[in-house]
Amino acid sequence: MARTANRNQLGLPPGPKGRPILGVALEGRRDPLGMLQRYAREYGDIVRLPVLRQSRILLNHPDWIEQVLVVQHAKFHKSVLMNRIIEPMLGQGLLLSEGEFWRRQRRLAQPAFHRARINEYAGAMAEIAEAHVRAWRDGDTRDVAQEMMALTLEIAVRTLFGTTLPGTAEQVGSAITFLMRYQLTRMRAPLRIPETWPTPKNRRARRESEMLDALVYRIISERQAQKTSESSGDLLSLLMDAMDEDGTQMTPRQLRDETMTLFLAGHETTAQMLSWTWYLLGDHPAAEARLHEELRGVLGGRPPEVADLARLPFLHAVMNESLRLYPPAYLLARTSIEPCEIGGYDFPAGSTFVMAQWVMHRDARFYDEPDAFRPERWLDGLAQRLPAGAYFPFGDGPRRCIGQGFALLEAAIVIGTLAQRFGMRLVAGHPVAPEPLVTLRPRHGLRMTLRARD
Ligand code: HEM
Repeated sequence: MARTANRNQLGLPPGPKGRPILGVALEGRRDPLGMLQRYAREYGDIVRLPVLRQSRILLNHPDWIEQVLVVQHAKFHKSVLMNRIIEPMLGQGLLLSEGEFWRRQRRLAQPAFHRARINEYAGAMAEIAEAHVRAWRDGDTRDVAQEMMALTLEIAVRTLFGTTLPGTAEQVGSAITFLMRYQLTRMRAPLRIPETWPTPKNRRARRESEMLDALVYRIISERQAQKTSESSGDLLSLLMDAMDEDGTQMTPRQLRDETMTLFLAGHETTAQMLSWTWYLLGDHPAAEARLHEELRGVLGGRPPEVADLARLPFLHAVMNESLRLYPPAYLLARTSIEPCEIGGYDFPAGSTFVMAQWVMHRDARFYDEPDAFRPERWLDGLAQRLPAGAYFPFGDGPRRCIGQGFALLEAAIVIGTLAQRFGMRLVAGHPVAPEPLVTLRPRHGLRMTLRARD
């Protein structure tokens, strides 16, 4: 879909004026998701948002999104916006590093994510999912968001790092939540108290970071202790082997950053995807019934295996629709490192572009009844018809999610296994609101009642 846009008189995209100095900063703080949708509707495909004397360019057309992520990707780096929030946690791991260093690390990690290798994890994923719900009983009320964090943590640590961290899930979950909120609040505050000042929040942030660091170093040292002369081929072994590569050793700090990145990126996003899926299924009994029927017909009660997945189209439709409505990565941002032309406008180096899955995935030009949960929409080739850039839960271009195949396999196995055992319904009156932290989370968790299936 080739498009051109007419320049306006100033050579700048249209957009709200906002308040003096602050621009739209306060609105963005109060309701970031609503604000992005509102301005996309009001101003169209490319919008200039003034924020604290700077501007961000919001791209609301698939073509412009593809220009940034794919066609002109070399002109962009990850934006300082997101980096400021997650760098303290992830350091220079795969998600945030750039240039030759990123390319090398990506090349190094890639073999651990090859399809054949990932498929080998399916058995362990199903086993862990079954064991996780062994203690679940008919009529129990559980925070399904917390349960999914614990489950995906266990799966990631066992499959990617070849180890276990018993009893740490709750601690890890609350540390991540706290640190995401802490960094976001700091980023949005007009005045920042230095992190070194011993305020209660700063002290807690330091404690939580140290706890996560200690866990990651424990994963690394356990793996090092187990290691035989032959690499076991898991991700951590691959990364550790690279320490000995012709003079380009990975320092312990780099190994820590990569492990932390994969530790967090490898379970947190998938946990959100699963949580939102249970919420949506609980809220749409007809879709839930159709899923159960498909699973019963194909699996008859046993957990899914890789070979079954092609025969579970409705399960995939449910996953696509969940990622459309509640994309765990709800927004991507890039900063131009050289001048570029996007959407008919010229931008200098240093311009910041925002591409919001939250907005594009609910755009009525591409989706009928965009706010409705209708998995069936994916059953008649919608994915092929959509223009690139209209649906990008895993990003696109060279920085596309390395864990996409892993996440989709894990989600299919977990949903396929658990949905045959339990139906879940939100507890009456439990509030549900998406909280846009680094990922899109259910702000109050998801208290759901379990109904055992026979
Ligand atoms: C539903 C689950 C997941 C979602 C929605 C998701 C989403 C994304 C997105 C949108 C990006 C691109 C970010 C950007 O362009 O700025 C990304 C990158 C990344 N993801 Fe995921 N992800 C998921 C699961 C995973 C898993 C399971 C892993 C690891 C096992 C993982 C590891 C990574 C890494 C390392 C990157 C950076 C890749 C690079 O820049 O080379 N993700 N993810």
